[in-house]
Amino acid sequence: MHDKILILDFGSQVTQLIARRVREAKVYSEIHPYDCDPDFIRRFIQEEGGKGIILSGGPNSVTQGESPRAPQIVFELGVPVLGICYGMQTMATQLGGAVASAEALGKAREFGYAEVRAHGHTELLKGIQDFATTQGHGILKVWMSHGDSVTTLPDGFKLMASTDSCPIAGMADEARRFYAFQFHPEVTHTLQGPAILDRFVRTICACRGDWVMGDYISEAVARIQEQVGSDEVILGLSGGVDSSVAAALIHRAIGKQLTCVFVDHGLLRLNEGAMVMEMFARNLGVKVIRVDAEHDFMSKLAGVSDPEAKRKIIGKEFVEVFQTESAKIKNAKWLAQGTIYPDVIESAGKGKKGAHTIKSHHNVGGLPDDMHLQLLEPLRELFKDEVRELGVALGLPREMVYRHPFPGPGLGVRILGEVKQEFANLLRRADAIFIEELRNTIDEASGQSWYDLTSQAFAVFLPVKSVGVMGDGRTYEYVVALRAVQTQDFMTAHWAHLPHELLGKVSNRIINEVRGINRVVFDISGKPPSTIEWE
Ligand code: XMP
Repeated sequence: MHDKILILDFGSQVTQLIARRVREAKVYSEIHPYDCDPDFIRRFIQEEGGKGIILSGGPNSVTQGESPRAPQIVFELGVPVLGICYGMQTMATQLGGAVASAEALGKAREFGYAEVRAHGHTELLKGIQDFATTQGHGILKVWMSHGDSVTTLPDGFKLMASTDSCPIAGMADEARRFYAFQFHPEVTHTLQGPAILDRFVRTICACRGDWVMGDYISEAVARIQEQVGSDEVILGLSGGVDSSVAAALIHRAIGKQLTCVFVDHGLLRLNEGAMVMEMFARNLGVKVIRVDAEHDFMSKLAGVSDPEAKRKIIGKEFVEVFQTESAKIKNAKWLAQGTIYPDVIESAGKGKKGAHTIKSHHNVGGLPDDMHLQLLEPLRELFKDEVRELGVALGLPREMVYRHPFPGPGLGVRILGEVKQEFANLLRRADAIFIEELRNTIDEASGQSWYDLTSQAFAVFLPVKSVGVMGDGRTYEYVVALRAVQTQDFMTAHWAHLPHELLGKVSNRIINEVRGINRVVFDISGKPPSTIEWE
């Protein structure tokens, strides 16, 4: 059993970052809604290895009406508790301190960079600072985002941190090991955030650092073996990171009891089908059924140019093909999916006590009820970066595991308007050239390739023709656009400022090597107002 940390979520946008930072300290953590059953919390701590609790930030104000509170049991189990932002305010309120709103204090709300002075020589901050003032006070550079502030410390607490505008920016009751900060140690702008969270989980909570991928594999393998026994499992392989890592892990556990179904809808990237077969069937010896459904998809898409209609057709056809193939595997009892932890958190109804619903994989719809399949989701507790680490540890090529995301409808949303096989063939080749050059061009300042410096990059096919001249002849051919973005979360994105030489080389190569394309343009739109994909 792992030592672990319970994170109670009060609805902050950055709660997931707390879990990630804790896991980076090699300690397993789980996020649950703030109003989960007190009995669940008791079991988590007393029976399942829980060593501490973190209360996240959130959008509410404890000064107003029916705002959320931590279940009182959090403060009664004898384990360390760390409150962050709203978590600090509810801790203060529940333990007898006081909180006031910015309006009541006649102050502005505070967002952004702040310098916090450490006080009280607490165990949590001992030796952690960004610099010291000339008077010898330790200062932390942090990120603040709050309206309310704690104005009176609860009994037993002492001051742990302060700023000019927020006199109680941190408080501690070291006898009970309760700590709280008004600032956010989980965001990257708080430079010592990782050190503070590491100190909390490893020293204050005394968790062993036992969350390491190598060990995780043997545990996960044992768990899958126990769950599945001698049953057969089906998995829809898309070539994406999550389904690939799930396949490699399950194969490690049960070998030939796993059958993967790989549907090639004709809208994949250059050589993608061959690559998937090479990697799984040939190298790893996984049983993979490759369904060549290009013709079916293309005929269903003929004459359709509306983006939403295209997406619906591709999604529906995918489910049908997958169902037909899966139904042929008679003994299957399990459907494996590459669901990862952010999917689980997103689909857990906020505020609904522990109700976790399962988000269906974007590529693989449900299977007919009469197949009576149970779901096997071995990546449910992992974040994307952990899935990647696991993939590498399982022997998948690094290059594949760190690939940019690729949408379920594939090139179908990168060929504007009607999808034709001819267009897909041109686009595949142009896209491959773009990606190859991004991989091969190293940015001198960072030493990284432009592929790694961009979050997503691809070519888009524009079904318009323009005039060109090649050799002595006039050409009248199609246009491709290059799209490259940088983003943390894909909700907003900046267009990547690729070097002109790189763009020039890509354009030259595409026009020279891909007959049928005589013009290349570069997309310089941000999201919003544009989206990353063109359709
Ligand atoms: P947009 O175009 O909305 O894309 O800015 C944001 C991110 O989502 C990906 N995307 C999809 N992924 N199925 C997927 O699995 C889809 O239908 C889909 N549409 C967009 C897109 O590639 C980008 O990473």
